[in-house]
Amino acid sequence: MQRAKTKTKTRVFSGVQPTGNLHLGNYLGAITKFVALQAEHDCLYCVVDLHAITVFQDPDELAKNTREVTAAFIASGIDPGRHIVFNQSQVSGHAELAWIFNCVARIGWLNRMTQFKEKAGKDRENASAGLYVYPNLMAADILLYHATHVPVGEDQKQHLELARDIAQKFNNDFAKTIAREGYEGGFFPLPEPLITGPATRVMNLRDGTRKMSKSDESDMTRINLTDDADAIAKKIRKAKTDPEPLPSEAKGLETRPEADNLVGIFAGLAETSKEAVLRDFGGSPFSKFKEALAELAAAKLNPIGEEMRRLMADPVEIDRILDDGARRAHAIADPILAKTKDIVGFIRS
Ligand code: TYM
Repeated sequence: MQRAKTKTKTRVFSGVQPTGNLHLGNYLGAITKFVALQAEHDCLYCVVDLHAITVFQDPDELAKNTREVTAAFIASGIDPGRHIVFNQSQVSGHAELAWIFNCVARIGWLNRMTQFKEKAGKDRENASAGLYVYPNLMAADILLYHATHVPVGEDQKQHLELARDIAQKFNNDFAKTIAREGYEGGFFPLPEPLITGPATRVMNLRDGTRKMSKSDESDMTRINLTDDADAIAKKIRKAKTDPEPLPSEAKGLETRPEADNLVGIFAGLAETSKEAVLRDFGGSPFSKFKEALAELAAAKLNPIGEEMRRLMADPVEIDRILDDGARRAHAIADPILAKTKDIVGFIRS
């Protein structure tokens, strides 16, 4: 019946936090996937400003970073006319559904989230309550649109599993009213994570055992989307490696995290596999490989950086795109939120 309609239709949702320093990990782990999925699916791509403030953000910086992520989406090839690009705080349903999910998710589930442990660090008492319930908001982002597929990097896998648990528990807890409303097989679909390709976890250039991150103090650990060719070449030249030449097969990368990372980055940028990269570079010294990688990275990223700068010069146009996206996001979210309220037993006019 009604549910059967949403079940057969795929819908992609994903989000990126506007917390500055968009980097190669965000690009290869997420944004390139967003671009590719546009051909076959209806997509919503969200600049998640509500998530960003779980750690204090300077208000002027937050607005600038929100426009910058929007510009990065568009410069990378996301079409805001055919798909939906918006910032989360303009659609209040995210916060409303998150509250309902705060009451569905169990504290024990949240206590297992490794990202909270990492971000809160030793001073957990001093972390914001928002940082703790952040995964419930992320579940709300996805389920507010009955999204079925969620492209993300490897680090978001656990949050996606939690979103599935929340959907499942909601469907069970409210099975009676869900059936009464005429939905078969549950109200919320269980979203599928899409974590694919050779660069789902891009690592820190100075330490192949740590993730490339926006918040790392040293800019030399990451390649930013707005870095110019010289900065990219310098960072790759100085990236940590080991003394051996590159292996000829992917198996040879297993105990070499830095080599594995650079080969994965090359494969991601060249849209090929690590095996194919090693067919070309197996036996080469890092000096030669790094030169080719710097050239490839600059060729791919510099046009994006330039287009981002051009778009950022017209903030009024970016705000118009976000406003239009929010309007179209509302049109999908509002009926789903209204039904959720009926299912929970809230009276509405
Ligand atoms: P965020 O803003 O930290 O990162 C955005 C996307 O980039 C991916 N990513 C990486 N991929 C590979 N290697 C890396 N080093 C790397 N660093 C980041 C992330 O996995 C992510 O896909 N909670 C999310 C944002 C979010 C969201 C959502 C995502 C909020 N609501 C709903 C999907 C669906 C986050 O903090 O991503």
